[in-house]
Amino acid sequence: MAQEAQEIQETPARNDLPRDESGALDKKSRRVQQMFGRIAPRYDLLNRVLSLNTDQRWRRRTVRMAKPAGPVLDVCTGTGDLAAAFAHATGDQVVGVDFCAPMLVRGKDKKACRSVRFARGDALALPLPSDRFDVVAVAFGIRNVADLDQGLRELVRVARPGGRVAILEFTMPRGRIFGAFYKLYFGRILPFLGNLVSRSRAYTYLNSSVLEWASREELAQRLQAAGCERVEVHPLTFGIAAVHLGVKAS
Ligand SMILES: C[S@@+](CC[C@H](N)C(=O)[O-])C[C@H]1O[C@@H](n2cnc3c(N)ncnc32)[C@H](O)[C@@H]1O
Repeated sequence: MAQEAQEIQETPARNDLPRDESGALDKKSRRVQQMFGRIAPRYDLLNRVLSLNTDQRWRRRTVRMAKPAGPVLDVCTGTGDLAAAFAHATGDQVVGVDFCAPMLVRGKDKKACRSVRFARGDALALPLPSDRFDVVAVAFGIRNVADLDQGLRELVRVARPGGRVAILEFTMPRGRIFGAFYKLYFGRILPFLGNLVSRSRAYTYLNSSVLEWASREELAQRLQAAGCERVEVHPLTFGIAAVHLGVKAS
């Protein structure tokens, strides 16, 4: 892992990605980065309260499904909760990458993230070598990435052949009653409380990004197109969220 950490610092970002001519992040990426920068101080608190701590249970389920047996990368790591869950389960060092410095700072301060190696980087151009990680995971992050297919290709690129890519994301529940409750909660209650506590409009964006997000089937197909085989979808808690699990083709 010491060598890994050094590579994180030294591998230059690829330059064929959605950046404007001056080399800066594109508009959507910049907006997302600034938004998470603003809500970083209250991000964990809001997650716990708004999900009644279910978010942490989902992360632990993701770790169990991914069955890590080697180096793990957590992309869009934010404040490091998924990375911490992997570190707790494996005892191994885990790498967490995110492009939002204020989120990473929160993660670095956490006791549970002691053994996590954080690095700043764009999910669309991961500053990491190919074919390296046993598990490449992302929780509630890929939905925010400006180019989904490029983001998925990057997850697959850095996984070792035969390694797993695990994506934990919100999805639309299917049942009529639960679907209606979900729309009410996501459409009204969550943005109201989230915006109030974070003192921003971020939770209005988060709400619409979930409602406009790809279906489970579409995400599974796109993960396959990015280079994964045997893609499985595991719905969680009445289908509010799901783990997509794929194996990088050897
Ligand atoms: C909703 S948070 C999820 C954080 C964490 N994975 C969790 O489970 O709480 C989304 C994170 O994705 C990051 N993100 C979005 N687009 C990114 C990109 N292109 N490159 C790196 N990080 C990105 C944001 O900075 C933010 O920290």
